[in-house]
Amino acid sequence: VFVGSGPGRLTPTEGADDLNIQRVLRVNRTLFIGDRDNLYRVELEPPTSTELRYQRKLTWRSNPSDIDVCRMKGKQEGECRNFVKVLLLRDESTLFVCGSNAFNPVCANYSIDTLQPLGDNISGMARCPYDPKHANVALFSDGMLFTATVTDFLAIDAVIYRSLGDRPTLRTVKHDSKWFKEPYFVHAVEWGSHVYFFFREIAMEFNYLEKVVVSRVARVCKNDVGGSPRVLEKQWTSFLKARLNCSVPGDSHFYFNVLQAVTGVVSLGGRPVVLAVFSTPSNSIPGSAVCAFDMTHVAAVFEGRFREQKSPESIWTPVPEDQVPRPRPGCCAAPGMQYNASSALPDDILNFVKTHPLMDEAVPSLGHAPWIVRTLMRHQLTRVAVDVGAGPWGNQTVVFLGSEAGTVLKFLVRPNASASGTAGPSVFLEEFETYRPDRCGRSGGGEMGQRLLSLELDTASGGLLAAFPRCVVRVPVARCQQYSGCMKNCIGSQDPYCGWAPDGSCVFLSPGTRAAFEQDVSGASTPGLGDCIGLLRASLSEDRAGLVSVNLLVTSSVAAFVVGAVVSGFSGGVRVRACEGCCGRVRRVGHACGVCRGGRPQRPGHWLSRHWGFHKAEGLRGAG
Ligand SMILES: *[C@@H]1O[C@H](CO)[C@@H](O)[C@H](O)[C@H]1NC(C)=O
Ligand SMILES: *[C@@H]1O[C@H](CO)[C@@H](O)[C@H](O)[C@H]1NC(C)=O
Ligand SMILES: *[C@@H]1O[C@H](CO)[C@@H](O)[C@H](O)[C@H]1NC(C)=O
Ligand SMILES: *[C@@H]1O[C@H](CO)[C@@H](O)[C@H](O)[C@H]1NC(C)=O
Ligand SMILES: *[C@@H]1O[C@H](CO)[C@@H](O)[C@H](O)[C@H]1NC(C)=O
Ligand SMILES: *[C@@H]1O[C@H](CO)[C@@H](O)[C@H](O)[C@H]1NC(C)=O
Repeated sequence: VFVGSGPGRLTPTEGADDLNIQRVLRVNRTLFIGDRDNLYRVELEPPTSTELRYQRKLTWRSNPSDIDVCRMKGKQEGECRNFVKVLLLRDESTLFVCGSNAFNPVCANYSIDTLQPLGDNISGMARCPYDPKHANVALFSDGMLFTATVTDFLAIDAVIYRSLGDRPTLRTVKHDSKWFKEPYFVHAVEWGSHVYFFFREIAMEFNYLEKVVVSRVARVCKNDVGGSPRVLEKQWTSFLKARLNCSVPGDSHFYFNVLQAVTGVVSLGGRPVVLAVFSTPSNSIPGSAVCAFDMTHVAAVFEGRFREQKSPESIWTPVPEDQVPRPRPGCCAAPGMQYNASSALPDDILNFVKTHPLMDEAVPSLGHAPWIVRTLMRHQLTRVAVDVGAGPWGNQTVVFLGSEAGTVLKFLVRPNASASGTAGPSVFLEEFETYRPDRCGRSGGGEMGQRLLSLELDTASGGLLAAFPRCVVRVPVARCQQYSGCMKNCIGSQDPYCGWAPDGSCVFLSPGTRAAFEQDVSGASTPGLGDCIGLLRASLSEDRAGLVSVNLLVTSSVAAFVVGAVVSGFSGGVRVRACEGCCGRVRRVGHACGVCRGGRPQRPGHWLSRHWGFHKAEGLRGAG
């Protein structure tokens, strides 16, 4: 655990400020922690150390004059400080750091070794939010800084911005709701000749009275140099966006619309894939889903049709192909092509891009269904980490999903299984807590103190790093010893990190291990193994049965919507599901809850269609 302790100290200095961690960045075996007014450098070696201490600490406070201006503009004292919101590796020896600096953001280079500032600070405008509560995204590519944030004090002007490097500074069109409507930026990845941004925003393409949030992916060409002096000068000529489709199939589709987190591009089953966590809106029944998107499918949608609204009252329709100018709007103009730079593109193409940023099609998820669905948990899932090199041969994929409060759900993912149908692409492995109330504070800061900020794999130590405002916790990726004493529990866990050793223990298998062990990640041989005595086995296997298949999950999530609540929790290592019904007379049937008997309504199908009506309205409001 890291709680702000320095060399040789177990606890932070008496009277020191509470930590208020904003960002963490792991570079090989070193963790950089961006806090409020401070930056820490923490070694992750040795992997067995239980106390993480900083070797370097740099204090970077706002000037009194900046704080005065901030206070004068009506901000609270607690907000008028320097919150580190951008923390990136710029080159091997340099960190690039931006702080909100009392609502007057600044950025500077810092030495990776000494944490000393290198050179002058530069404006953080359009690179870093003013308000520490705002979400922002930043990424370096070819020496250029790509950021997604807001550029003003009032947080009205949302922007995707490129600066530094050799090319001109570019931004998205200002105050145009076709480009952005109240976006919340989640992640950015570099792929091929583009940078892709993942975010959610208010959909402007639905003519609903209510505001509907949808999830998006947008992309820009890395080599964009902006438009002509007449159209899109100093603005992107390649900005396009599309909806992400993470939905549960059925007679009527149920969409998970609220994007929460996205992984980097990983290779899964031979495809370049990102995994994304979605949830339902916060004022509805809690539900979360993980969908996988193939980057080649994402790119294909940007080669597809555009969508437009002909007049402010009309509905949005696809643009007929013969009305799309050539060369294709949004393409990356480069030397050797008809137009050697984006600034040379004819005005009609630039005008088209400016007025048609939205693609008609949504990006389909792999398998056309979520890989994991969870409903009615106490907390929504908001973070994701993926290990594509899990297990002794480094060829298994394990996904860790973090809830708002730091509970982690661990799944084995088999990307090739979805095609075969029966098994489903994911297997639930275990659930564990990462928050340490004894070290990080027993909800002193309320729920906010226990908010999971980030979840990152630290493969070399076989750990996961979970960052909270008051602490960073390292937890092992597996707890194999809990299955010791019984071969069936150990092998039946299907946990690729665990193996049954000849001495009768269940051991953690580091990649490339030479130890002898038995393992069956497919779960095929488990029924043939000897029995174990005790409760743990019964409850574990029962629970697993309920979680294997997406279809079953969908059914049970539907059942859960109807029945009322499925409470899943942890007590003494045994997961308990309680059945509670609309009529209070629900039976427990195997791993699931039975359907109401007596009371009203008696036909689940009837309820379903009514609730589905809500779902289709994409709000889920009032259901249940
Ligand atoms: C930024 O640089 C200026 C000029 O060197 C300096 O006066 C100011 O204190 C710096 N601001 C921060 C927040 O470091
Ligand atoms: C920051 O470092 C980069 C190289 O890593 C350098 O090109 C740039 O000029 C530096 N910026 C400042 C403000 O010192
Ligand atoms: C999954 O399928 C892809 C392509 O069909 C193949 O390249 C890959 O090796 C397969 N992966 C596994 C784990 O079988
Ligand atoms: C593009 O072509 C024009 C002439 O048509 C030339 O002046 C310019 O240097 C070229 N730009 C690049 C980036 O090659
Ligand atoms: C989302 O995907 C499903 C399943 O492929 C499809 O039926 C549905 O029409 C898609 N929705 C959108 C908005 O494209
Ligand atoms: C992983 O590698 C092992 C040993 O080469 C092999 O037996 C196993 O089938 C592989 N599993 C997957 C999912 O590729």
